[in-house]
Amino acid sequence: MADAQNLDTLLKESRRFEPSEEFRANANYRDPAIYERAAADPEGYWAEEARNLDWFEPFHTVLEWNPPHAKWFLGGKLNAAYNAVDRHRKSYRKNKVAFFWEGEPGDTRVLTYDELGREVDKAAHVLSKLGVKKGDRVTIYLPMIPELPIAMLACAKIGAIHSVVFGGFSANALRDRILDADSRLLITADGGWRRGGIVPLKQNADQAVEGTAIEKVLVVRRIGEQSGAAWVEGRDISWEAEMAAAPSTPYPAEPMDSEDILFLLYTSGTTGKPKGIVHTTGGYLTGCNTSMRSVFDLKDEDVYFCTADIGWITGHTYVVYGPLSAGATIVMYEGAPDWPDRDRFWQLIEKYRATIFYSAPTLIRSFMKWGTEYPKRHDLSSLRLLGTVGEPINPEAWMWFHEHVGGGRCPIVDTWWQTETGCAMIAPLPGLVATKPGSATRPVPGIVADVVDEEGRSLPPDQGGYLVLKRPWPSMLRTIWGDDERFRNTYFGKFEGIYLPGDGAHVDEDGYFWILGRIDDVINVSGHRIGTMEVESALVSHPAVAEAAVIGRHHEVKGQAITAFVVVREGITPSDELVNELKQHVVQQIGALARPEEILFTAELPKTRSAKIMRRLLRDIAEGRVLGDTTTLADPSVIEELKQKYAHRE
Ligand code: WT7
Repeated sequence: MADAQNLDTLLKESRRFEPSEEFRANANYRDPAIYERAAADPEGYWAEEARNLDWFEPFHTVLEWNPPHAKWFLGGKLNAAYNAVDRHRKSYRKNKVAFFWEGEPGDTRVLTYDELGREVDKAAHVLSKLGVKKGDRVTIYLPMIPELPIAMLACAKIGAIHSVVFGGFSANALRDRILDADSRLLITADGGWRRGGIVPLKQNADQAVEGTAIEKVLVVRRIGEQSGAAWVEGRDISWEAEMAAAPSTPYPAEPMDSEDILFLLYTSGTTGKPKGIVHTTGGYLTGCNTSMRSVFDLKDEDVYFCTADIGWITGHTYVVYGPLSAGATIVMYEGAPDWPDRDRFWQLIEKYRATIFYSAPTLIRSFMKWGTEYPKRHDLSSLRLLGTVGEPINPEAWMWFHEHVGGGRCPIVDTWWQTETGCAMIAPLPGLVATKPGSATRPVPGIVADVVDEEGRSLPPDQGGYLVLKRPWPSMLRTIWGDDERFRNTYFGKFEGIYLPGDGAHVDEDGYFWILGRIDDVINVSGHRIGTMEVESALVSHPAVAEAAVIGRHHEVKGQAITAFVVVREGITPSDELVNELKQHVVQQIGALARPEEILFTAELPKTRSAKIMRRLLRDIAEGRVLGDTTTLADPSVIEELKQKYAHRE
């Protein structure tokens, strides 16, 4: 048995995939010396990359590093919308397609760079007329429709800070984010399409804005009459009416300081309160622009399709700012991958002749379950490069993606990064680095990563430890909005001046990084980060719940699924109805993405003598493992009972 297992591991780790000669010969990055050059002079490397952007005023200093605070490209002035759109309008890309947009019901819209630019200009006029000024926060709660990137870029053009909230979040979650950012304006839609149904964005928005500083709600019409959305006179404003009335003159791009904030994006952490991750203009844009050319090997002829929702960082960086700043043609899709059928993505790839396809392991595992007949129905021969992000990809899913989508010929870039890092940090340059299924390979040029022990010492190959980033990089988060102390503690509190992402990892003998997953109380469900404390807070806000502990359990498709252990209040009888009610309650509090897969009632939670919930033991129970160290338990009988209960659940 042990031998077979060893062999299995050996097989997995020894599979290496070299790019084809053809891919290598045409790749943007063909000279491996780039790695040494960047390592010898990271600041010089990044300065060179930054000069691929258009600056209104050049920077005089590349980096000012006062750990944990970094400033990049000081003295430089630029505008993100100008770089994403306007500079292409002045070039041979003027009439190049920026977006091939496809709505879920099958309606389409094509926007060239020039057309996109005109829309952004009009939207900037609209925002400006509504009183939005440089530095103001604008919350955006939209489905995957062209108005979403247009609204973001319009904010960027006038220097306002956008805070996009994923359309799957509930009214409560939206309200928390509006309050934290202190936004005056909300941009939303009367709804969005998802699996033939309507996502009630406007209803959520109406609830969310109550008690906030929101004065105006700009509403895009996506659904029309059937949406059932109410209209609040004096507060709600029609996007279409305003856009139609806006001047058709260009809106001058606000010259932003390199370190001026471009956007906030909320992500989960180890407390109940989401963190507003702060990204600035020059560094962030340099990071995303660079990785389009390096990791995604982007060329002018490419048709690039990233399946992420713009409500997440992947969408910000790899649907909007990265590909646009690099002048790419982007496929953007509104709906679900299995609507109207399970071949929707493959159909889109065939229709638009997509050459680069970037998706997530959880989706690939769904595709696997659905079977090869779906990709087989379509001509996927246009594809030349594949990518994944969100969680470690299991080798089976990697192989399936490689064979059935990539036709065995496309390199796969497994990209490790986070909301905080802004762009891909550990990923192969596909013409230079052989890939191994399950490994994000090595840090990109200009990034110094390592795996260290508790004391911060580098670990030898194959020993698990803390993944760290040892030097600042341009697209790193600058702080947490309104909470610099939390920024300092979370990311730089463990090792002086060294960034702690919160992932475990090991490096193999070839210097390849293997990410093991989160080491904190954060769960990764379908590539989305959810804090256990957030779900616990949601549960205990229900009148029937006295206490709750939430963990992530291994799940075949989602990567991890949420299991909640709940103690009910005196006088409450646990029941199946209550289980459903609690699940629904969590959906209401946070959103469907946080709905617990299972809820188990228990009389008590396992705690240490200092009353800390031992989630580690709950994970052991839920995953059917032999229990780890139980000596610190205050009452060992609690865990025995739970084990019995869990084993006998339905
Ligand atoms: C966490 C960040 C970056 C966009 C998607 C999620 C996990 C992400 C990988 C990968 C292994 C990965 C990590 C990370 N993760 N990509 N290629 N291999 N793990 O962004 O919500 O900020 O979550 O996702 O655990 O810390 P996020």
